Amino acid sequence: MAGETQFCVCQCFLSHNIFLKNYEAHIVFENEGQFQYDYQRVLRQKGCKTAEQWENVIKEVKDEIERRRNMYKDSQTRRELIVAKYKPLHPHVYTLKESYLADSFLSIVQYAKSIEQATTSGLLAMLDHCDASNVYAFQVFTPAFCEDFIQEINNFENTDLPKGRPNTMNKYGILLNELGFDEGFCSPLRANYLTPITKLLFPDHGGDSLDSHKAFTVHYRIGEDLDLSYHYDNAEVTLNVSLGKAFTGGELFFGDMRQVPLKEAECTECEHKPSYGLLHRGQHMHGALPIQSGERINLIIWMRSSTVRNRLCPMCNRVPRLTPCAWGTGDGFTIAADSVPVCTAL
Ligand SMILES: [Fe+2]
Ligand SMILES: [Zn+2]
Repeated sequence: MAGETQFCVCQCFLSHNIFLKNYEAHIVFENEGQFQYDYQRVLRQKGCKTAEQWENVIKEVKDEIERRRNMYKDSQTRRELIVAKYKPLHPHVYTLKESYLADSFLSIVQYAKSIEQATTSGLLAMLDHCDASNVYAFQVFTPAFCEDFIQEINNFENTDLPKGRPNTMNKYGILLNELGFDEGFCSPLRANYLTPITKLLFPDHGGDSLDSHKAFTVHYRIGEDLDLSYHYDNAEVTLNVSLGKAFTGGELFFGDMRQVPLKEAECTECEHKPSYGLLHRGQHMHGALPIQSGERINLIIWMRSSTVRNRLCPMCNRVPRLTPCAWGTGDGFTIAADSVPVCTAL
């Protein structure tokens, strides 16, 4: 339809930022020759020594590229199945209400929205500051909401319905758009409550023009995923909310922006209390330390600005090569619908 926006991914989605968990490495795969040339030595140093291990790596990478190629169509199929078959335990959590939000968070939003007097320094005075620069903490939800939300996610986890996983770094977690959280929950949370804050805090990083998001949960449990390697997000601004349950360890740590090499970055830990969110720039490198005990579930919202990313793809550092996606908001790139090429949709 003319005048409408089509969401897209950058073609680097099929070749870049593929994470090899066994070797803690993000790699680029264009073809086997390039991959061997660029990574054989590095991966050998990380323990990939035999021909069989190398074959396994190639297979893992190709499977991941295939998963990505089908991701949007598969996601749409899962969504349709969930709509038809899934019976929510707590239907009310799918529609955002102010009673789910902490009073202190509502005051912060109210201040940020009062355009005439709101200033960045005034807002900063209302937030908790982490030792890491430009990372802010504040309570987002009430503990009662966190409990219902976790129960809802666990209820879905325990069904045999198919689950799309957030990314290659987290095996355990749920894509919230597939479960039905986008329209009534995540979109209003982003547009009406978070954007007024990000406008003041991160105007130079797209915080004033966020227009889509990818929201998911990540789960850490002894015996499953324990930690998260150092990385940056495919987002302009990220909100990471700790929902609970009871756990020890699992602190987030932050380094520098992705352009700064790790050896020059000093990492700083940030405490992450249940019901509190950490708000940071997506390109701020970070990771999560292993949990020591218990179980931890976080809600992550990667917020995107098409204005920023249409100029430069944060994942390949080039002008994005846009490919429309069949369903959803892709990776937050946009193109006018009437200029969409007819072929190559994902
Ligand atoms: Fe992250
Ligand atoms: Zn790209």
